[in-house]
Amino acid sequence: MNIAIDGPAGAGKSTIAKKTAKELGYIYVDTGAMYRGIALYLLENDIDISDAGYVEKKIEPVIIEIKYESDMQQIYLNGNNVTSKLREEAVGNMASKSSALPCVRAKLLDLQRQLAKDYDVVMDGRDIGTNILPDAEVKVYLTASSKVRARRRYDEIIAKGETADINVIEADIITRDKQDMERETAPLRQAEDAVYIDSSDMTIDEVVATIIRLTKK
Ligand code: DC
Repeated sequence: MNIAIDGPAGAGKSTIAKKTAKELGYIYVDTGAMYRGIALYLLENDIDISDAGYVEKKIEPVIIEIKYESDMQQIYLNGNNVTSKLREEAVGNMASKSSALPCVRAKLLDLQRQLAKDYDVVMDGRDIGTNILPDAEVKVYLTASSKVRARRRYDEIIAKGETADINVIEADIITRDKQDMERETAPLRQAEDAVYIDSSDMTIDEVVATIIRLTKK
C-alpha cells in the first residue's frame, strides 16, 4: 500500500504524512528533503543553475541516500548526514528553483520509486500522485490558504526563538507556489484521482483521520 500526498509549500504535508505513517506502521518518505539535499550541494559548491548542462555534469557523481535512524528520516549527501541543514530558507528557495531542472528530477526518480516498491510508504512531495507513483492506492492533494500556511511557518520560527516577518513569509510562499506549479517538468498539480483536502480549518488529527479512512475504502 502506498499513500501519495502532494501539495504546496507549508500545507502541513510532512507533519501529516509523518503522523499517518506512524499510525499505519508505514515508512515516511519526505521527497522534498531529497531535493533540498541536491540544493544544498548546489549552494555549497556555488553552482550556477542557469546552465542545465553544467548542473547535470556536476550532480552526476553526487550520492543522495535516505536512511532511518530512530524512526527519523536522515538525508546523506556524499556520505555525510546533512539533515540538520536542509530546513534553512535559502536551501528551500534553491530547492524550488533547482527541482525544475529535468536532470535533478531524473536523479531522484528511481530512488523514490524503489522505496515505494520495497516498503509500504507515505510519500509526500509535489509530483508523487501524478508522476512518481501513479498507481498509489491512496492519493491526497493537501493544501491550505497562503495566509494560514504563512501563519504556521511564522509560529514555527517564533517557537524556535527566532524572529520573522509574516508578510515576507507569505510572499515567499506565493513565489514558491508559482515556481512549483508553473514549471515545465512535473509541475505541482492535483492528480485526477487524488482527494482534495483543504486543511485551513482542520486540526492535524482530523486530516490524519481523513487519510486513514481513505485507506480503508
Ligand atoms: O516540500 P519541501 O518544501 O521540502 O520541498 C522543497 C522544494 O522541492 C519545493 O519547493 C519543490 C521541490 N520538490 C519537488 O519539486 N518535488 C517533490 N516531490 C518534492 C519537492
